Amino acid sequence: MKIEGQDYKTIWFDKKTKSVKIIDQTKLPHKFIIKDLENVNDAINAIKSMEVRGAPLIGATAAYGVVLAVQENNDPNFVKKSLADLIQSRPTAINLKWAVDRMMNKLSGVNNNILSVALEEAIDICDQDEKFCESIGLNGLKIIEDIYKKKKDTVNILTHCNAGWLATINWGTATSPIYHAHKKGIPVHVWVDETRPRNQGANLTSYELNEEGIANTIIADNTGGILMQRGDVDMCIVGSDRTLSTGDVCNKIGTYLKALAAYDNKIPFYVALPSSTIDWNIKNFKDIPIEERNSEELSHIEGLDKNNNLKKILIYPKKSNVLNLAFDVTPAKYVTGLITEKGICKASSDALKKMFK
Ligand code: MRU
Repeated sequence: MKIEGQDYKTIWFDKKTKSVKIIDQTKLPHKFIIKDLENVNDAINAIKSMEVRGAPLIGATAAYGVVLAVQENNDPNFVKKSLADLIQSRPTAINLKWAVDRMMNKLSGVNNNILSVALEEAIDICDQDEKFCESIGLNGLKIIEDIYKKKKDTVNILTHCNAGWLATINWGTATSPIYHAHKKGIPVHVWVDETRPRNQGANLTSYELNEEGIANTIIADNTGGILMQRGDVDMCIVGSDRTLSTGDVCNKIGTYLKALAAYDNKIPFYVALPSSTIDWNIKNFKDIPIEERNSEELSHIEGLDKNNNLKKILIYPKKSNVLNLAFDVTPAKYVTGLITEKGICKASSDALKKMFK
């Protein structure tokens, strides 16, 4: 998708420099910086510090992390340790383990040209994600079209966090139906939850929608409820970091409360996800590892000062305790449907099994 009119993807391998290129998302929207990941440690740090984030992009970065590990030192013990460190780098998004496992399976028993086999597989993971996100968009487009046919006016869509192209390779998951609707000439407007504490909605979703010319308005995270009561939201679409085979959806903290408000107001609440986000093993959502991040993400805020320099300031009382849980779980009963690359299905084990197994 576009930034200042130029097409980008979020991650790619540069054969000349033998490094992985990423867009440093910690600096957006104020600074656009392309960064080089030169070794597996760089990849681990980029995931931990959220220079790259969003479930599919974390997976893709981990896949390239394996490539960088093999390139750095092809010793099996080093590669094994690198795989374990990559898996540990962020606990909640299942795409990370999915991608590392896929790389490991591909490389097991390979003795020749390991680096090129690894690189091909990482590129394949990215290409597949891009195709899946495009299909998610075409499947989700039908829902927006139906609403537009009935309403004959702008379709107002609420989203939380960033499940946009910046969270994937291209298109995004939650935003892909929106981009497809816009391309088809359907008038859409997006309510963008700011998404405290890291403001992925304001900093990333609004930014990428602006760059694609899609009308959007940033709202504080607690505003969605009243907008729904006023009839100003036609549907919600969010992404997912891990969707259980039961249909329960783990996503950015605050998603659950938005789903409750949508349920109370009879507003359709959709979750868009590729199959790489499905966890077929965990059955009880309480067993999902929920990432707890540094309290500084809440107590401090970063922005541009009057000299256009990025500055971080403390906004909480110095003595206060702070808890920063990064994700929550929306039980399946509050989810209207799952928009996947294969089609739209109910958030239930039967429907998911039928679609994917
Ligand atoms: O902490 P983040 O920014 O990695 O969280 C991202 C989300 O919660 C997204 O909604 C999710 O990963 C889906 S991305 C298509």
